[in-house]
Amino acid sequence: MDVHISLIGRRNLSGEIYRQLRQAILDGRLRAGERLPPTRELAERLSVSRTTVTVAYDRLSASGFVTTRVGAGTFVRDGVTVGAGNGQPARRLQGTAVQPREVWKSIPLVKPFERPARFDFRSGIPDATLFPYQRWRRLVSGELKRRDRLVGIYADPAGDADLREAVARHIGVSRGIDASADDIIITSGTQQALDLLAKVLVEPGETVALEDPCYTPARWLFRSHGIRTAGVPVDGDGLVVDALPGGVRLLYATPSHQYPLGVTLSLDRRIALLDWATRHDAAIIEDDYDSEFRYGGRPVEPLKTLDRDGRVIYVGSFSKALLPALRMGFLLVPPSLRDAVQRAKFMSDWHSPLFAQRALARFIDDGDFARHVRRMNRIYQARHEKILEVLASEFGDLLDVIPSSTGLHISAFARRASADDIQTIRLRAANVDVAVQELARFAHEPPGRPGLLLGYGAIATSRIADGLRRLRACFDESSP
Ligand SMILES: Cc1ncc(COP(=O)(O)O)c(C=O)c1O
Repeated sequence: MDVHISLIGRRNLSGEIYRQLRQAILDGRLRAGERLPPTRELAERLSVSRTTVTVAYDRLSASGFVTTRVGAGTFVRDGVTVGAGNGQPARRLQGTAVQPREVWKSIPLVKPFERPARFDFRSGIPDATLFPYQRWRRLVSGELKRRDRLVGIYADPAGDADLREAVARHIGVSRGIDASADDIIITSGTQQALDLLAKVLVEPGETVALEDPCYTPARWLFRSHGIRTAGVPVDGDGLVVDALPGGVRLLYATPSHQYPLGVTLSLDRRIALLDWATRHDAAIIEDDYDSEFRYGGRPVEPLKTLDRDGRVIYVGSFSKALLPALRMGFLLVPPSLRDAVQRAKFMSDWHSPLFAQRALARFIDDGDFARHVRRMNRIYQARHEKILEVLASEFGDLLDVIPSSTGLHISAFARRASADDIQTIRLRAANVDVAVQELARFAHEPPGRPGLLLGYGAIATSRIADGLRRLRACFDESSP
């Protein structure tokens, strides 16, 4: 049989001929006993030297795919074609024989957006154009220049000592949390922090309580571990503590800035929540993902500052204050969990990338982090105010804005539109280059309350009014 080989470019031609013939043998296009074209003939056909083909054949022979009979030619060996039999071509290697566990069918893959919308109101995205790249580059290259021989050895799963010190100081100053470096474990963002905690704290089949609506990657994460989830309603004062179901020993929550609604857990509810945890011998994961950014109002202290007996596990992330691409976050764990969480981190990826950890430690210690946050706070505050102003003037009849003065997004309930209407509006908006998210998507169970999330991390202040006007037009098209 004349097997098809196509050569593009002129690099590593022998390797390419070898690879394509090997594949043809493996998937049964070249069957056992079949003769390969003579080297001279194939060389002519492919316009390459005979040696190039001979080298490929020698490799195939050395790897056991073919045998050469002097004077007769080169033949495919018996038994090397995967799955072939009865003269039928073998199934392709990329087959369907092995299947993942059922649970993975229900977990979506969040694909990166190929092209950000011109008016990008998606939530949780910081302004990447304003990241201090030069400073970061210098810090990372400073670390590379050190040529520290220790980087040849696996490092501490808990994280770089300087970074843990820096993080402990940082949350002490900015969040009033009394922590030492020993309490900190550096993670690849919140997502890994939750993964470690799920492994350490929950048996498959047990139930974890989550706010409803909630941060969906957290819900998917618990479910991926075979953990059941129970939704707990959220009102204007945050999580409704009285609605926590019985039998639950772990709650994941966002008390400072509820995701996605944006409300803050009131002091009375915080006290009630800690009381619930004591009565039920439960733990609370506090995800404090974006409260570096505050626009007026009294600063809200983390739940962790009220925790007397070590029931609150505090999770921080640098994804909003810096960039999600850094994949850098941390856990503040009570001493009772320290060892187990460090072991889980070791089992997961041994430790987070060291050069980036050290660069971040310097970034925090030198005051760059605080400076960057101050600068971004001013910029985000202007965007936050602009969005509120336009929503008040142009969307008063359509959206009921949920008061919030923290973070990178605002949420609003639809006054009249249904969840289906909002979906149509979201799709229509995408057609005019406006990206928004539907609130209903974050509900624990469909249909969820209709509304929108409007993020302002990724949109310049000067574009907000234009973008929202386009969105308004999409609402108008839906009205009877
Ligand atoms: C509620 C919440 N927690 C955490 C994060 C950050 O996750 P990570 O640190 O894994 O990037 C986000 C990002 O959007 C978020 O919305």
